[in-house]
Amino acid sequence: MRRKLVVGNWKMNGSRAGNAELLAALKAAGPWVAEVAVCAPFPYLADVALSLQGDGIGWGAQDCSAHESGAFTGEVGASMLTEFGCRYVIVGHSERRAYHAESDQVVADKAKAALAHRITPIVCVGETLAERESGQTDMVVKRQMSVVVHTLAHCISQVVVAYEPVWAIGTGRTASPEQAQAVHALLRAQLNAATAKAGEMKILYGGSVKPDNAATLFAQPDIDGGLIGGASLKAADFAAVCRAAA
Ligand code: 13P
Repeated sequence: MRRKLVVGNWKMNGSRAGNAELLAALKAAGPWVAEVAVCAPFPYLADVALSLQGDGIGWGAQDCSAHESGAFTGEVGASMLTEFGCRYVIVGHSERRAYHAESDQVVADKAKAALAHRITPIVCVGETLAERESGQTDMVVKRQMSVVVHTLAHCISQVVVAYEPVWAIGTGRTASPEQAQAVHALLRAQLNAATAKAGEMKILYGGSVKPDNAATLFAQPDIDGGLIGGASLKAADFAAVCRAAA
């Protein structure tokens, strides 16, 4: 039985005071049956780590460099994150693929860099609306996943996968539980061909998950929790989504 995981992706939102309020409310709302974590912007990570110390809620970053160290202005290395006790790092979010031209290989290299420092990468895959409408969903997510599978080889079982259809992110338009389950099953089959541990791997769904649709999505056999954007910024909503992952 895979324990569900719900991760809040705060994206470029927050303030020191606002984060403190949000985390205090979250801590008061827990614990949950599911594992819960929040991924905050880099400058806030030390605050978040301190605030969540001794609490069951984990934390992570939203990106890391594919490189170990050196002349990469503006980048943050996985070795730096791990010094603070970082548990997760999101890699290959569609916003980074789109706005920072991250290729499938760069995403895979970032996942590898995270694992080298014992941080669990949350590897995002997902198709655009145009790709879905032209019947390319399966091909696109399989291509994105296969580069990660080949790059990580026997370590692939250590990643968390997040299926986030680009057309469902921040749009209020969620994939139906059936649409999401179909892609999750496809990804599980692909992972199964690569590792004997595919059955233990978590595949999260992300894209307009809210308190009112979370339970039906999380009830699907291959959906092991969620990567939550907008709803993770409101304590009551995020707590309700976490509760739905029982
Ligand atoms: P929303 O939940 O706001 O649609 O964002 C999803 C997402 O991108 C999480 O990484």
